Amino acid sequence: MKPLLLAMPGNERMADALAAALTADRCPVTVRHFPDGESYVRIAGDVAGRETIILCTLDRPDQKLVALCLLAGAARENGSSRVGLVAPYLAYMRQDRRFNDGEATSARHVARWLGAQFDWLVTVDPHLHRIRTLAELYGIPSQVAPAAGAIAEWICSNVRQPLLVGPDEESAQWVADVAGRVGAPHVVLTKTRRGDRDVSVSVPQLERWKGHTPVLVDDIVSTARTMVETVRGVRECGMADPVCIAVHAIFAAGALGELQDAGAARVVSADTVVHPTNSISLAGPLAIAIREMLEAGSGR
Ligand code: R5P
Repeated sequence: MKPLLLAMPGNERMADALAAALTADRCPVTVRHFPDGESYVRIAGDVAGRETIILCTLDRPDQKLVALCLLAGAARENGSSRVGLVAPYLAYMRQDRRFNDGEATSARHVARWLGAQFDWLVTVDPHLHRIRTLAELYGIPSQVAPAAGAIAEWICSNVRQPLLVGPDEESAQWVADVAGRVGAPHVVLTKTRRGDRDVSVSVPQLERWKGHTPVLVDDIVSTARTMVETVRGVRECGMADPVCIAVHAIFAAGALGELQDAGAARVVSADTVVHPTNSISLAGPLAIAIREMLEAGSGR
């Protein structure tokens, strides 16, 4: 039987692409809020005995998590054989330890909540830093769909003589990967974060790369302070205006404008979070990762 794909509101475009790639059946859902603010969900189809995939990207997660968990509960209650979560952007990965006494290690708590509702998880490039793998966090089987291949293809088609730039230590993993695929050099900068919007980035000598187009790649752009400071530093070295690429385009209010004002030549993103900068489709890598989870579940 074909798997059934349920999309939380706002995920329709990716749901269409994934349903086509997986030859899955779409099943409509109702998600709304009662006047008192509580969530209401309903699956408008028969999930009994069906492998059920719920698609919900988790930017602005606090607005989505309750309804998402209820939808997984509804699928189970109505007889789904397994319920998987496809979260192209997986939230709550950055608070991965207690930095100060009394804090919650949010990454671990949210992983426990989702792990209790779903049988498996697929995401794109989760923010893994002090926690090295998703399996260290999630007790359910998981697959990561990598963005590097699609980003590299976009750079090859759109940027002349690129120099890949990673703004901080964490970015080294994906920047090196993308640079290798493009066949371009890369540099990784050093970032100091003092607060949510207080970031400085130190840029090494880039003299030898004059004539290259800097391409800044980061996994998440949220306030854009990291990218803004990197754009400034790179331009102060006399380099061309950089192209900025985000895997997960969170973009807090005003952040895109600030990045453009700082001198970014172009800002583009993958489509894990719906945003006007989306230019790189990750439906292909996501479909591959989902297929692996489905096949693992079918005992093949
Ligand atoms: C953190 O290390 C991430 O890789 C990003 O650099 C960070 O999330 C970007 O955040 P912001 O846009 O708020 O500077």
